[in-house]
This record gives sequence, C-alpha cells and structure tokens, in this order.
Amino acid sequence: MRYHLTTYGCQMNEADSSLMQALLAAAGWEPSVSLDSADLVVLNTCAVREKPENKVYSKLGELRAWKAAARGRLIAITGCMAQGEAAEIIRRAPQVDVVLGTRCFQHIVSAAQRALAGEHPVVLTDLNEDPSPLRCGTAMGRAKTALTAFVPIILGCSNWCSYCIVPSVRGPEKSRPVHEIGREVEDLVSRGTREVTLLGQNVLAYGRDLSDRPDLPYLLTHLASTDGLWRIRFTTCHPRDVSGRLIEVMSGEPKICEHIHLPIQAGADKLLREMNRGYTTDDYLHAVDALRAGVRGIAITTDIMVGFPGETEHDFEASLKLYERVRFDAAFTFAYSPRPGTKATSRDDQVPRKVCLERLQRLIALQNRITLERNRGSVGTVAEVLVQGPAERGEGLLAGRSRNNKLVVLPGERRLAGSLLTVRLTEAHLWGFRGLPVAG
Ligand code: SAH
Ligand code: SF4
Ligand code: F3S
Repeated sequence: MRYHLTTYGCQMNEADSSLMQALLAAAGWEPSVSLDSADLVVLNTCAVREKPENKVYSKLGELRAWKAAARGRLIAITGCMAQGEAAEIIRRAPQVDVVLGTRCFQHIVSAAQRALAGEHPVVLTDLNEDPSPLRCGTAMGRAKTALTAFVPIILGCSNWCSYCIVPSVRGPEKSRPVHEIGREVEDLVSRGTREVTLLGQNVLAYGRDLSDRPDLPYLLTHLASTDGLWRIRFTTCHPRDVSGRLIEVMSGEPKICEHIHLPIQAGADKLLREMNRGYTTDDYLHAVDALRAGVRGIAITTDIMVGFPGETEHDFEASLKLYERVRFDAAFTFAYSPRPGTKATSRDDQVPRKVCLERLQRLIALQNRITLERNRGSVGTVAEVLVQGPAERGEGLLAGRSRNNKLVVLPGERRLAGSLLTVRLTEAHLWGFRGLPVAG
C-alpha cells in the first residue's frame, strides 16, 4: 500500500507529518510521489488564514475524480482544519474517508484500516489525546534520518489573541516532560541529526503546566549536553515572555544559535491591546534591546499582520515607523484574515480587503529594503554554515544555514553535505547570501 502526503501550514504540521510518515512506514506503507500510484492521500491542513483553507477545498474537488478512478482509494484530512471543521469538511466533501484532529493524527494507520473495512467516515478529534510519547517510540527509528529536525516541546496555545484560530484548533498548552524531549533528541542524534529546532506556539511558555515547572532556559541547558548535537534552535517566542534567563542561556551556551523569532504583529499600542497580545511597543523595544545587548550578533525575525479590524492609516504608519526602528532581519507578513469563532471576526470595523493588500505591499517594500540593507552590511564577514545539500538552483552549488538562520549558497562538492564550514559571505541578496568557504 502506498500513501501520498501533503503538508500545509507551519513547522508544527511538518513535525506531525513526520510522525505520521514514521507510523505509516512502521505499518508497511510506502510513500508515493505520484497520486496515481497512491492508495491513500493525506492532506495535513492549516486553518490560520482563509487562503490555505480554500486550497484544501479545491484540492478535495480534484481528488473526487482520483478517488472514483479506482476502488479502495482513501482520502484522509488531518491537522488544524480537520480539528476545527470536521463536520463542514464531510458535508462539503463526502468523498473524505478519514478526519483526524491535531491530537489524533497518530491513529492514521488504524483509521485507514477501519475505512478500508468499510467504515465511513472515520472521525477522531479528541483534544485530550496526546501523540507526543510516540515521537520517541520505535516507529520514529524507521523514519528517514535528517540533518535537521523539528521537535515539538509544547502543544497548543492558551493565549487567545483575538484574531487567531490556533488555540481552538490546537487545544490548550501542554508541555512534554523534559526526559521525553531529551530521549527524542538523543534518538535523533544517534541517527545522524545534528540540529534540532524546538517547536511551540510559544516555547517561552514551556513547563508552566508541568508539576516540576522546568522552563525553556532549563530545557535548553539540559539538551545542550547531548553529545553529537551541534546546534539548537527554538521557535516561536512570545515577546511578553522574553527573560534575562533566556538571554543568559543563549549567550552562554555555544550550541544555541543566535536567532530569535519574535512576532510583533503590529506596531501600535491600540492594535496590540485589541489583539490581546499582552505587551506594548515599549515592552517590545526593551526585549529587542536586551536581546541585542546580551546575545552578540543575534538575528531577530518577526511576523507582522496588516489590516486588523480598526487599523487606521495613522496606526499603520506608526507601525511602519516602529519596524524601521527595530530593523528586523526578516519578517513574515500577512493580511488579516477573519477566522470563524475568533473575537476579531465579529467586529464591524473590518478594513476593506483592497486597503489591506495595499498596506501589505507597502510593508513588504519596507521590509525588503531593510533585509537587503542588513544583509549587505554582513558582506565580507565569515559565518558558520551547516551545509544541508545541493542548492535548489545552480550546478555545483551547496546550500546551508548560518547560525543566524540565513540561507547561504556556496560552491562545493556534494560530499560536504552535513558538515559545518566557515564561509566568507561575498554577495548579499534578499533571500540570503552567496559565499566562499574559507580555507583551513
Ligand atoms: N504562535 C505564533 C503564531 C502562529 S500563527 C505567535 O504567537 O507568534 C503564525 C502567524 O500567522 C502569526 O504570527 C500571525 O502573524 C499570523 N496570523 C494568525 N492569525 C491570523 C489571521 N487571522 N489573519 C492573518 N494572519 C494571521
Ligand atoms: Fe495564535 Fe496568539 Fe497563540 Fe500565537 S500566541 S498561536 S498568535 S493565539
Ligand atoms: Fe496553521 Fe495550525 Fe500551524 S492553523 S499555522 S498548521 S498551528
């Protein structure tokens, strides 16, 4: 039996997909690159904005013909849409056989078996389940070894930002015990992983719900003692929770990379308050100053949203001024998208779509200029690059990431994949750098 899996959305979904792949492999399922030779199609979905949701519904439309073309073909929907709108999916796409929520996807194999036996549809969306312990089980040992791996450390989110669907589809915060994460990282390293990225909607909330109350700085120190592990990253950090302890551990522990993803969302206090973000622009600037003062060479990236309900031209311009002041290394930029069941959806001061998109263009232009200026400022310096493999484009070129998480493309032989190189940055681009390995 063969499966074809597509992952939408964030790194958390990628981590979940890797567990599903391992469980399917352990049960004898083979991955298939083409739909034609697949018996099971899995769409691991995202609900954070309307666009990725629409993509999934149009994909489901295409899959109707695929399913009708041969007997026994199965369609499974997992992830955040599956959690949030199982009933709607089945109503709009009755060809769907399996719907598994964000804490039930670990049942992919048994659900497929039940569907093959004639049950239709199989729907599991209990948020009280927990797939995490399986991540360090025997199944993962069969997964393809990767140089870099995502490790979820805290599931869900309890912040309830007023625009965001994540808390309702991912459930409340639930931290994994330190020993379980440690075991998973050791497993990964024993199979060749050299860099881990610890994942959570807010990794700085890690441990608050555990009885022994470990925190992220403690976990980082603990994991840093793993022999054979070269680099540790973590994402995402809520600006409200940046602490002196975090800065201390980041500056003192050489395995922790100098990069923090610190979503600002908006640059006007009125908007931050209405978003329920729990910090002011001043708080944010203080966190940035402390990070830059305490962690040498740290890169700061962010998420920014434009067009939140009630955002005036004045608010938007104030935000641009603040971003100009912070000078982020890079930003993911989004136009606000109303999400069912969130507080902001029911507001009657929605910003017209056209205005949102126009502001988005202005924001992107500003950020592109800043990213390029910052990158140009690093030309001539050297960076430690973990070489991941051949570059997407260009004969004889390799690609890797600097400790700052910047993409670096350099000439070199394929056998260098998996090694740490010292690279002089020779050319700056929006996407990263071209560089040359430094001899010796
Ligand atoms: N937990 C992370 C964010 C996860 S969602 C954090 O708190 O930063 C990733 C990004 O999607 C968010 O940072 C936000 O910028 C964006 N986003 C979330 N809900 C959105 C919505 N309704 N419309 C547009 N963008 C949204
Ligand atoms: Fe959404 Fe806010 Fe939670 Fe991030 S912190 S996932 S933006 S509710
Ligand atoms: Fe999307 Fe769910 Fe991630 S909504 S952004 S896949 S947590």
